[in-house]
Amino acid sequence: MHDRIFLSSPHMGGSELNYIGQAFADNYIAPVGPHIPAFEREFEAFLGQGHCVAVASGTAALHLALRLAGVGPGDEVVCSDLTFIASASPVVYQGARPVFVDADPRTWNLDLEALEAHLSARRRAGGPMPRALMLVHLYGQPCDVGAAAAICAEYGLALVEDAAESLGSLHAGRQTGTFAPLAAFSFNGNKIITCGGGGMFVAQDKAQADKARFLATQARDPAPHYQHSELGYNYRMSNLLAAVGRGQLEVLAERVEQKRALFAGYRERLGAEPWIEFMPEAPSGRANRWLTCALFGDDAHSGYRLREAVRLALEEENIESRPVWKPMHMQPVFADAPFVGPGADEELFARGLCLPSDTKMTEADLDRVCGAIRRAVKGQS
Ligand SMILES: Cc1ncc(COP(=O)(O)O)c(C=O)c1O
Repeated sequence: MHDRIFLSSPHMGGSELNYIGQAFADNYIAPVGPHIPAFEREFEAFLGQGHCVAVASGTAALHLALRLAGVGPGDEVVCSDLTFIASASPVVYQGARPVFVDADPRTWNLDLEALEAHLSARRRAGGPMPRALMLVHLYGQPCDVGAAAAICAEYGLALVEDAAESLGSLHAGRQTGTFAPLAAFSFNGNKIITCGGGGMFVAQDKAQADKARFLATQARDPAPHYQHSELGYNYRMSNLLAAVGRGQLEVLAERVEQKRALFAGYRERLGAEPWIEFMPEAPSGRANRWLTCALFGDDAHSGYRLREAVRLALEEENIESRPVWKPMHMQPVFADAPFVGPGADEELFARGLCLPSDTKMTEADLDRVCGAIRRAVKGQS
């Protein structure tokens, strides 16, 4: 049996152990320690703007962002429909309700025309407006954040960027996660860089970053004893994980190039085939290509059959792949949530597959994956 080829597994750069060694030498095996502010400052330098707070997960960062955006019980939050559930679950943690908006097949990101039409109809109807927009940069594809921000300004919504998958992606030459007042990144084990688990909260306003840091450390008042005037969370990143993050940040630029090279390698090998269509790149963006995604077949029905045949054949050859995210409006847990759009993302889900995008893959691994895909497709014709 061949070695397993993974979708996206941790890829250490080498200096992570040195940073961890320092933490051990100084006995900073504690939740707080010097690697945390160092990681935050280095991350700020990478982004070029904003104030960072290292937290336990991307989900925690999104939860803090919604709380700071003033989202509370009874509010509505408009959210990308084609995404991982963690974009939407913090909406519910805040007692608010998600309203899901379809994806634009040209980018796979939230359809801004559908959003604008929905908000304009809501305003004409005279009812209460949603409080915020949760905008996801899907699979590293940068959204047109400028256009989204203009819509949010017009209709009075707070904008939150879910940049969990897009670290290192650029929109109009600028890092995603730096456009909205509030944003979140993830360092989950499958992300472009990882701490094993963790996230980064980003605010453009320092006072909001300070507030997030306070809330993430149980909202402890400045007093010698433990005193709390409001409720917070245990959301801070640990010193040991920040040590890993510092080492990973040193290789981030290299990982982006490796991910993009993998995408180019797939397109070179398979791009001319009529049965496959790769996820496009947004015109004003440079995606990190966290995962190489492709659609199979011509329509939802035949594409689903082909995509499943390919997925199962890859698994048979010890190669990991995964269907594109199942849209939120199709999730049983959100069966009652409103959905805006014709359901273009249902076809992306039916036909879409995330291909192995592990930065440790070699040219021979790419050949192996593409050979298996070809055989699977041939077996179906
Ligand atoms: C789009 C998106 N949002 C949020 C998250 C949540 O991040 P975490 O797993 O670090 O909580 C993830 C990834 O896991 C994600 O892919």
